[in-house]
Amino acid sequence: MAAQITVNGDRFVEMISERRIKTAVKRLAKEIDRNYRGRIPVFIGILNGSFIFLADLVREVKVDCEIDFLKLSSYGDAKISSGNVRLLKDLNCQVEGRDIIIVEDIVDTGLSIEYIRHLIEPQNPRSLKVVTLLFKTDSVKPGTQVDYIGFRIPSDFVIGYGLDNAQRERNLKAIYRLHAKPPREKAGA
Ligand code: PRP
Repeated sequence: MAAQITVNGDRFVEMISERRIKTAVKRLAKEIDRNYRGRIPVFIGILNGSFIFLADLVREVKVDCEIDFLKLSSYGDAKISSGNVRLLKDLNCQVEGRDIIIVEDIVDTGLSIEYIRHLIEPQNPRSLKVVTLLFKTDSVKPGTQVDYIGFRIPSDFVIGYGLDNAQRERNLKAIYRLHAKPPREKAGA
């Protein structure tokens, strides 16, 4: 049976184990190494959620690289996206002529990626690609382009490995999904 944890009265079930995450990170790093041979890409981590994935990914990648961060917020402390992306910290690096790789922990609606593309494309990067550990196939806006995907997942609320539950639980080593409560039994049934 999958491991379970209880957080503030909500039950969460392990969805992706630490071992499976490690295997996926190694696979993604190999793909990136193959595609960026002889280049020096700039990995841009989208804070806060991507910090653990980014740290693990860049330590698996063998190509020389640079690292920068953008800080966005679309969820606040809620369990669903507000649909309103805000820029909380801009880039420090020069984008023009560089190979940019956006690093996300999760693509849910795809609105953050759309926002990032509108921010970065006018700065004329040599290339712009997106890597995400998790990709929510059912909720993502059609046409959202993501180049490297760790896991395709359904529309569950997920926490751990960087993903938060009202800012907490980012430090869990595995990824957990909120356990759906069974429908209440009818009184007297
Ligand atoms: C999360 C996640 C992505 C974004 C994805 O960030 O880290 O950046 O939402 O959702 P979308 O595809 O619907 O735009 P969040 O706003 O929760 O901030 P955080 O990274 O600080 O947790």
